[in-house]
Amino acid sequence: MTASSAILLAITGWDPQEWDARFRALATGRDIRLWPDRIGDPDNIAYACVWKPPHRLLAQFPKLRAIFSLGAGVDALTADLSLPPVPLVRIVDPDLTMRMTEYVVLQVLMVHRQQRRYDAQQRERIWRELPQPAAHEVVVGVMGLGVLGAAAAAALARLGFRVAGWSRAAKLIDGIETYCGPNQLDAFLTRSEILVCLLPHTPATEGILNSAVLHRLKRDGALGGAYLINAGRGSLQVEADILAALDDGTLAGATLDVFATEPLPVDSPLWTHPNVTVTPHAAAASVPDALVENVLRQIARFERGEAMENVVNLAAGY
Ligand code: NDP
Ligand code: OXD
Repeated sequence: MTASSAILLAITGWDPQEWDARFRALATGRDIRLWPDRIGDPDNIAYACVWKPPHRLLAQFPKLRAIFSLGAGVDALTADLSLPPVPLVRIVDPDLTMRMTEYVVLQVLMVHRQQRRYDAQQRERIWRELPQPAAHEVVVGVMGLGVLGAAAAAALARLGFRVAGWSRAAKLIDGIETYCGPNQLDAFLTRSEILVCLLPHTPATEGILNSAVLHRLKRDGALGGAYLINAGRGSLQVEADILAALDDGTLAGATLDVFATEPLPVDSPLWTHPNVTVTPHAAAASVPDALVENVLRQIARFERGEAMENVVNLAAGY
């Protein structure tokens, strides 16, 4: 290993020690540095593997050759105006994809099978079977048909839901009604009873989950109301609009994994709203045991002169 092939780990919000241990175990012989205490000579750092590093940190390594986001979303990195002009690679991995699919399927079924109402009945010891539509009567709209959205949409379609999907570019996916771009957004929304959002945060998607969009959802379908599930990014949602939509019946329920401010402030009304389910950005965790090997595979490709996979399109912002 050359002196200038060190890997820097710069991780906030997650436990960096687990990543450090996994990198050291798998990249034997490679110099692994851990920000902030074990940076060593900045000239030797060739790769940075990061999650929400402080802005301007990565600009301090003159020999940096590539940046690896340890999560699928890269908005925290693209927001750093001093990001060095080297390839930015994001995580795409079956482990992360399956975790997100589990989350989406769980939350869609919680709504579809009326689990909150059964929980309330149980608290009152009420034995009452509720009328239950079939999955094929319900349209789930998935915003974002990328790696995570397409996998979740396919799993929902396998369960029998009618699934619609919306993306930036046109797509043909078996069993999914696809829509694209701003011109087809309304047609997509007006047929969706459960809206699942798996969009990235970009200038074009910021605040997209607002009252205008929520008002277009289908409220007179088999579920008798419209529901929102957002596991994309908190910056996609206008939280005041979601609360207003819940209060005036535009939304019958919302399941939110991501928030404008994380952790969700203790005084947020979302915590206690009777029709809101809050999860702590836990839909699809990045797990070192599963993902470090993936990053090292990309570095090996790069060092063999092969193209890396999942390089972010910085012009598109995701
Ligand atoms: P991808 O880049 O694979 O997919 C993004 C999708 O969004 C694509 O289908 C893309 O369209 C679509 N899209 C982007 N911009 C627009 C737009 N302006 N209008 C319409 N569609 C648009 O990302 P992933 O599926 O891997 O991840 C999606 C997001 O999920 C991440 O960016 C991250 O924010 C979030 N995430 C959340 C996690 C959690 O635990 N809550 C965990 C992991 C990720 P097109 O296909 O045409 O390019
Ligand atoms: C991700 C996330 O983007 O964890 O991977 O949110």
